[in-house]
Amino acid sequence: MKILLFGKGGQLGWELQRSLVALGELVALDFDTPGELCGDFTRLADIAATVRQVRPDVVVNAAAYTAVDKAESEPELARRINAEAPGALADAAEEIGAWFVHYSTDYVFDGSGERPWREEDATNPLSVYGQTKRDGEIAVARCRKHLIFRTSWVYAARGGNFIRTMLKLAQERERLTVIDDQVGAPTGADLLADVTAHAVRAVCAAPARSDLTGLYHLVAGGETSWYGYARLIIEQARNAGLPVRVAPDAVVPIPTEAYPLPAPRPRNSRLDTSKLRAAYDLVLPDWRSGVLRALTEILKQ
Ligand SMILES: NC(=O)c1ccc[n+]([C@@H]2O[C@H](COP(=O)([O-])OP(=O)(O)OC[C@H]3O[C@@H](n4cnc5c(N)ncnc54)[C@H](OP(=O)(O)O)[C@@H]3O)[C@@H](O)[C@H]2O)c1
Repeated sequence: MKILLFGKGGQLGWELQRSLVALGELVALDFDTPGELCGDFTRLADIAATVRQVRPDVVVNAAAYTAVDKAESEPELARRINAEAPGALADAAEEIGAWFVHYSTDYVFDGSGERPWREEDATNPLSVYGQTKRDGEIAVARCRKHLIFRTSWVYAARGGNFIRTMLKLAQERERLTVIDDQVGAPTGADLLADVTAHAVRAVCAAPARSDLTGLYHLVAGGETSWYGYARLIIEQARNAGLPVRVAPDAVVPIPTEAYPLPAPRPRNSRLDTSKLRAAYDLVLPDWRSGVLRALTEILKQ
């Protein structure tokens, strides 16, 4: 099997380089990979030509414009990277009969209600980022053999994310306020990458099984708020001997309104993963286990 991976340097791309390599020949590109192959998502014709030239069995797209607040002032660039480029890649994949694997986000929903969102629920993104990711989903479905995984609150031991931000702030400040009315599941890039490899293997082995194709929600088990997530990170950091300045009772829960940001966030980011677990016979571990593992690795660094 030949796999072409875009966005190899991101949180997820890095983990995919590890998980996909055992499936066959892996060609992995970044936006600035030198040479004749192009991984720059602002160059639509060139990335499509790269797909035609490499002729992989599977294209995996881990590249994205993920600066949620900045996207509000750079909507054209966000749209190009999150919607137009994946669409161009999906068209090229369709042309050569390849599978196309793509990732999307809980931000395609408006966050209303309490019930975990299902794949068939109507989308209603609140932000430019969410809109461009939703349009990316629609564009990617132009490739008949597609897999789209919607996920949330992604972290990794490598790259910038909420865990690293909290560790830094906990060492700098005596008091921390963290949003407590947005609920979701922190999901490790390693889990996403491992499930992707499992899914790619399954769809390639049984291409006629239509229940394995399409859109799936993929997040860790359980749920928390950003506040609950922060409390776990800081408690573990203190236990590990990190010079934490903030006292346990000085981590304070606040409502969304108390921390205004350019891009509105959904309050209910719960994603129902039953479709994925049933189709692929998978168990998705509780969010805490992956976070503790990543923390152990980050704290060692
Ligand atoms: N992070 C989250 O919390 C989260 C939540 C839900 C869903 N997702 C989705 O999960 C997927 C993986 O996210 P992630 O956390 O791994 O994101 P990430 O760490 O930000 O990685 C995205 C990658 O895309 C690259 N990129 C940016 N502009 C590019 C361009 N013009 N051409 C090619 N590559 C470009 C980035 O490079 P630079 O770093 O050099 O800019 C980075 O390597 C994305 O589809 C994202 O939308 C993420």
